Amino acid sequence: MRVRNVLVTGGAGFIGSNFVRHLLANHAAIRITNLDLLTYAGSPMNLNDLSDSSRHTLIQGDIADRELVERLLREHDVDTVVNFAAETHVDRSIQDPASFIHTNVLGTLALLEAVRTVWLVEGGRTAEDARFHHVSTDEVYGSLEAREPPFLEGAAYRPSSPYAASKAAADHLVWAYHRTYDLPITITNCTNNYGPCQYPEKFIPLMILNVLEGRPLPIYGDGKQRRDWLHVEDHARAIAMVIERGTAGRLYHVSGRVDRTNLQVVEALCDCLERRLPAAVHLPLQERIVSVTDRPGHDRRYGLDSRRIERELGWSPRMDFHRGLEETVAWYVEHPSWVAHIRARPDYQAWLDRNYAQRGICA
Ligand code: NAD
Ligand code: TYD
Repeated sequence: MRVRNVLVTGGAGFIGSNFVRHLLANHAAIRITNLDLLTYAGSPMNLNDLSDSSRHTLIQGDIADRELVERLLREHDVDTVVNFAAETHVDRSIQDPASFIHTNVLGTLALLEAVRTVWLVEGGRTAEDARFHHVSTDEVYGSLEAREPPFLEGAAYRPSSPYAASKAAADHLVWAYHRTYDLPITITNCTNNYGPCQYPEKFIPLMILNVLEGRPLPIYGDGKQRRDWLHVEDHARAIAMVIERGTAGRLYHVSGRVDRTNLQVVEALCDCLERRLPAAVHLPLQERIVSVTDRPGHDRRYGLDSRRIERELGWSPRMDFHRGLEETVAWYVEHPSWVAHIRARPDYQAWLDRNYAQRGICA
């Protein structure tokens, strides 16, 4: 189908803003309406450097506001929705699951009802001229055993955290709208993303800012949990391919094919930072790594098999992990105003204090 008018939700967050940047830079005919509630995790600052901002409109609002979504679908003649909007941090979901149900479950339901009304009931759109794309996570499958191969599309859902459970519920709703109403949908489940503009509660940017700000580097439990790291630009390119050429009613896994323990990642980050900032930091950085109380229900290992998208759409990850880490470190070091803007938000310090107090270290 021909993608023209895209409603991106959560496009002021980490992955959403990188996706908006990717679409504007690589798809000259596409216009974007970006609906974002601008929670603690979203910021217009993430959209400062768009290549053609005349094709982008940011609207502050809630995806759970069905009337607003219906109005945007009609006014902007939207043919494609890409749903990134979510509460996304596992630790927060353990402390406060309710907001995860509001946005991830009820918000996704409101979006689905809005597109069903405007596209199917009023507009008679089909898979030829409409697409609802939902962005999901490897966490819906739960933990992989040490010797198990990465999950294939169709594996059973066994979410561990309230975050993962809320994403699993949203995925089931998206499938239900496809099967019940024939809504043309696609879903991508991806592995852990990293890159510019990621809010520094997530592992990689938190460790970078901890180094820059002289804090310890807290590793949950033994640090041997494994994650598969996907660069956000590779992810943005995958989603762009799926909305343009993916088959309606199909799920695609997106993996960075970079399987590392948390300890390996933090050690690699320390190496990058020591080379980049020898004078500004106290060496050796690895001495700042401290083992802290583990996350309850912490999944040992995530991993996805992404051969379907590679075979069907010709996508594969391009970013080398070492280069990706170097560039990510460089981005945080070279954007002190972005870092200062995040640090000035009351939520940031409060979250650090609360999270670190629970794990027995000082922020
Ligand atoms: P993020 O937390 O950086 O951004 C989420 C964005 O959604 C923010 O801009 C926030 O303001 C917005 N938002 C929150 N509630 C909203 C609401 N009710 N209405 C409108 N906007 C709302 O998240 P991210 O890391 O960019 O993740 C984007 C998507 O990708 C999420 O659906 C997440 O589950 C999925 N995902 C992320 C990762 C990862 O490693 N970051 C991995 C797999 C899947
Ligand atoms: P995170 O970025 O929260 O992503 P997810 O839990 O969704 O995979 O964490 C990545 C890994 O890093 C995870 O195993 C938890 C671990 N972790 C720490 O060891 N210390 C920290 O301070 C944080 C935030 C995460």
